[in-house]
Amino acid sequence: MACSIKPWLMVSVLLYFLELQILVRGEPHVPCYFIFGDSLVDNGNNNALTTLAKVNFPPYGIDFVNGPTGRFSNGRTTADILGELLGFDNFIPPFATARGQDILKGVNYASGAAGIRAETGRQVGGRISLDIQLFNHGITISRLVALQRNLAYTRDYLSKCIYTVGMGNNDYLNNYYLPQYYPTSRVFTPDQYAAILIQQYWKQLKTLYNYGARKVAVFGIGQLGCTPAELALYSTNGSACVQMINDAVQLFNKRLKPLVDYFNNNLSGAKFTYINITSITAGDPSAAGDGEKKEARLSAVQREIFVSRRRCEGDGKKK
Ligand SMILES: *[C@@H]1O[C@H](CO)[C@@H](O)[C@H](O)[C@H]1NC(C)=O
Ligand SMILES: *[C@@H]1O[C@H](CO)[C@@H](O)[C@H](O)[C@H]1NC(C)=O
Ligand SMILES: *[C@@H]1O[C@H](CO)[C@@H](O)[C@H](O)[C@H]1NC(C)=O
Repeated sequence: MACSIKPWLMVSVLLYFLELQILVRGEPHVPCYFIFGDSLVDNGNNNALTTLAKVNFPPYGIDFVNGPTGRFSNGRTTADILGELLGFDNFIPPFATARGQDILKGVNYASGAAGIRAETGRQVGGRISLDIQLFNHGITISRLVALQRNLAYTRDYLSKCIYTVGMGNNDYLNNYYLPQYYPTSRVFTPDQYAAILIQQYWKQLKTLYNYGARKVAVFGIGQLGCTPAELALYSTNGSACVQMINDAVQLFNKRLKPLVDYFNNNLSGAKFTYINITSITAGDPSAAGDGEKKEARLSAVQREIFVSRRRCEGDGKKK
């Protein structure tokens, strides 16, 4: 599938911005890699939760070396591929099960259905919002301090790690554009909603910085209006995607880019990068076929899965 190249393109862009080079073998470029996000990069954190946003059973993982793991995907996630490119021998473990020395190379906190806002995804049951993901990172740091036994060393260590943060998809899919469950679209205009999301995201990213993160890649939101789920729910007025949703998401992205600039310009040592998903994944909306439209009187989980599918992850058997 042509689009299977996209995760690679995405991580190359990321590595470029972080001024790293791809090593084929040898030591990892960075000592550790921490992942914050939603179903696009969740690797098992929801498995033990009471939630519909859980996928630790087939056919998920059919192309993955370890079978179903809780990845919302047939194969590897973008975070898995990025970890490989960074030179890590093993996948970064999920916070839910990482123990002991596991955490030295980083932890994955991502959770399907989770959002910037605490209530986002509530209708599916358990999920780990970004605030809780950051709280969990605090727990990891105390464990690191206990393992490394030298506060200054840990602080320095954390400043050398790579961090990726990709949030916001569910604040639209599983909040703003589910008016039967959430009042947000009645309370806020799309522009106001983007503004309050960014305001909260700003605080959350600042928390991450305060925890010692310096090299942080922040992913924008993709073309959610082109996902089969939204195409089935909303009229497109004859075009390929639901323009209204893509426009709303762009209001968020437009504010996110200056936020990243703000961090770089105002916080000492910050090396934040904005990853423009739109320019990378502007995919072929015709892939959203009729068959999928029929599935579409949706559970939120299906919405998540539809989004995940769009990553077109291909060849998880490589490893
Ligand atoms: C369809 O077009 C009408 C009129 O231009 C507009 O008000 C409406 O928001 C559009 N619907 C969507 C889903 O984009
Ligand atoms: C923060 O960064 C922005 C650019 O993103 C700049 O315009 C502004 O002056 C900076 N503020 C401070 C207090 O340094
Ligand atoms: C992202 O890329 C798209 C397509 O290249 C562009 O239209 C958009 O303005 C970019 N968004 C931001 C926030 O830079």
